[in-house]
Amino acid sequence: MCGIFGIVTDKEKILGPILIEAAQRLTYRGYDSVGAATLKDNGEIDLRKDVGRVEAVSSKYNFSEMVGRRGITQLRWATFGAPSQVNSQPHLDSDGDLVGAHNGNVVNNFELRQQFIEEGLTVRSQNDGETCVHAVERYLKRGYEFIDAIRLAYGDLEGDYAFVIGRVKEDCLYAIKKGSGLVVGIGEDFTCLSSDLPSILPLTRTIIRPQDGEIITLWADRVELRSVKDGKLIQRAPELVTESMDAVQKGGYPHFMLKEIHEQPLVARELLHLLEGSQDVDNVLQQIKNARQFYLAGCGTSYHACLAGSVYFSQLAGKASIPVLAPQFIPQYAPAVDHQDVGLFVSQSGETKDVLNALQTAEKNGMTCLGLANVIGSTLTRTTSFCLPLCCGYEISVPATKTFTNQVITFLYLATRLGGGDTRQLEMIPDLMEQTIQMVAPQIESIAKSINTWNDMYTLGYGGTYPIALEGALKLKEITYAHCEGMLSTEFKHGPLSAVSDGYPVIFISGPQDVPLIVSGINEVTCRGARAIAIGEEDARLRANASDLVLIPKSTPQIAPLLAVIPLQLLSYHMSLLRGYDPDFPRNLSKTLTVD
Ligand code: M6R
Repeated sequence: MCGIFGIVTDKEKILGPILIEAAQRLTYRGYDSVGAATLKDNGEIDLRKDVGRVEAVSSKYNFSEMVGRRGITQLRWATFGAPSQVNSQPHLDSDGDLVGAHNGNVVNNFELRQQFIEEGLTVRSQNDGETCVHAVERYLKRGYEFIDAIRLAYGDLEGDYAFVIGRVKEDCLYAIKKGSGLVVGIGEDFTCLSSDLPSILPLTRTIIRPQDGEIITLWADRVELRSVKDGKLIQRAPELVTESMDAVQKGGYPHFMLKEIHEQPLVARELLHLLEGSQDVDNVLQQIKNARQFYLAGCGTSYHACLAGSVYFSQLAGKASIPVLAPQFIPQYAPAVDHQDVGLFVSQSGETKDVLNALQTAEKNGMTCLGLANVIGSTLTRTTSFCLPLCCGYEISVPATKTFTNQVITFLYLATRLGGGDTRQLEMIPDLMEQTIQMVAPQIESIAKSINTWNDMYTLGYGGTYPIALEGALKLKEITYAHCEGMLSTEFKHGPLSAVSDGYPVIFISGPQDVPLIVSGINEVTCRGARAIAIGEEDARLRANASDLVLIPKSTPQIAPLLAVIPLQLLSYHMSLLRGYDPDFPRNLSKTLTVD
């Protein structure tokens, strides 16, 4: 998700240590490259950057000796474009008079770079942070004042980002916010800004929170906010931050899991923007289309996303695919694959040994291997012929939440495109996710209390909601330590029905088109005394037959499963707390499983 930090001081001094510490405090967001730039009084820009950890890059390039009156540091989390020194940020303009860095994604990066090249600007990298610098440079060269150049650049730059830029022979930094986080800090003899509070709080607790569409100018002794629309000044009183650093890192949430659940709409929006602007999706779709057999392989939560993807590819594109638990790929399918087949290997960490083993075998057999991963630079991203990014930033909590929903959205997007459908209808997903969180939160907390004494339960789904039943059960097992089994709803009568007793919790996840089938399942268990908790859209049949109905907003048969997982994530979270466990770090488990 990248991170930026900028500081303006009242006199030239050693800024290196401040920049290093600020970068270190943003590392939780995830990154693969680090850079820093200082603007000196003599008109020089000192720029140092490379791929690697903050400690390694800053010591290799001696960041600590960097001097200036103004400084910028950036952590890059590569999405498209390899992690490399030239793609690392900050970036210079053509003449070396401007230096800037961004956080976020400029989705029309490719088109803008072409325009800059045609206009004679010097474009050195593929990175969209450089595009932000040239977007301003182009208007400065045409004679516009700095604020107006930023306003015009804002009109050209599509996507969500926050951006900081400085010019030699000035005493200020400029920034703009559009969809990505940005906070301003005000100190005694300096001002600063950052993607997030952890890098500001060690310096000052007096802050201003700019809104989207606002341009910020920082001088050592003052801050000015202007509207990007008309350039007019905006008055905003500074506020005092009183929370602890720990609370701040969790974004004010008590646990990373809850923070990450709430981040789902934001990362979904960023992912959809990125996919829409990507040149590489066509290439991936072509390979999928031409595949004799198309395999989707992953473990745990990532496997459940593969199951959901397989439903979408069939329903929306008429393309059959084979979802498989990665280790089972080796004995079951590897003997039958060759160069005509395509495998998409899915992993949040990109380091799960079970997935990498399957990938290695598939490659040996000549299969075309694609990847879908969150951690860019991981083994999966380096060893597949092409790897799509999940754009979630760090997922710290062991239970996967936002990476699951972005995996499912990626599949939904690819399947929609493969089937010739209109991907614009997917743009409603982030808002629907936000609504879902609002709608279900209080009811789920009360259901958690009422079923918390049970150590055994079932989650049942059908069609598109079957993978969600499996995922909900995994979340419940993982952090409540209770037994919970996810199943196809129609299978329940073939055995597990005998477990039902008075009050026994059975959770049904209903897609909008599967209500009649789900209602028969509900009646099978309620007539034996079970408590049937239904998750679905408003429907009189569900309301009349289920013991509880957890409502999700109306959407489509393909989007509904994506929303239905949210109440299950929240249910597992609350039950874990009620049992006195830490949902972020469940016993016996680790976030990345690098063993067989
Ligand atoms: O990093 P991966 O996606 O490859 O991890 C696979 C599983 O270990 C992971 O999804 C696990 O099931 C989650 N902790 C579940 O929340």
